[in-house]
Amino acid sequence: MTRADPDRLAVFLSGTGRTLVNLAAVIDRGELPAEIGLVVASRACEGIGRAEALGIPVRLIEGEIEASELEAVLDEFSIDWVVLAGYLKRLPVPTRWVGRVVNIHPALLPEFGGPGMYGDRVHRAVLEAGVPESGCTVHLCDEHYDTGPIVFQQRCPVLPGDTPRSLADRVFQVETEAYPAALRLLIERSGSGG
Ligand code: GAR
Repeated sequence: MTRADPDRLAVFLSGTGRTLVNLAAVIDRGELPAEIGLVVASRACEGIGRAEALGIPVRLIEGEIEASELEAVLDEFSIDWVVLAGYLKRLPVPTRWVGRVVNIHPALLPEFGGPGMYGDRVHRAVLEAGVPESGCTVHLCDEHYDTGPIVFQQRCPVLPGDTPRSLADRVFQVETEAYPAALRLLIERSGSGG
């Protein structure tokens, strides 16, 4: 019996590539019916080396990508889903791609999001606000930063004595489960999964 081809992901990144490595491991364990067909990096960064080590083709596209260039590269690599993984540039979402561009944010949106809110800045803002919980949000993307329909949120506590770093580490642990879970949900809902 033949199975449909797994959905193909393009992972967009600007940093360490930790999310990419986690997704590749989850796929490898058979826990997500997908394959990573392309990595797009917005700048020279550690994530490029990690993608190459995994044997994934990489495109370095510096600055903001034009919609036409984005569509062309996604078509060239037969991509089904765009998965943002610490990608720090604004991305256009061409009409055909609405509902197929996914982002993870290291806080419980709609709080602690928006332009300039990434990495430790998010966790510092959470600590300054004195809230008892943080977590991560997986959402579909529109043309703005950190808006668009929420697919999945997962929570973790903020603990006494937390620093932006310790909170970031706890949130990232939550992300390693939440992003695959959200992608699984989206792929299943779209009816195209393996
Ligand atoms: C992740 O924690 C992700 O939630 C965050 O970047 C990290 C991955 O980047 N994304 C954002 O802050 C988007 N607003 P890294 O692999 O470079 O650490």
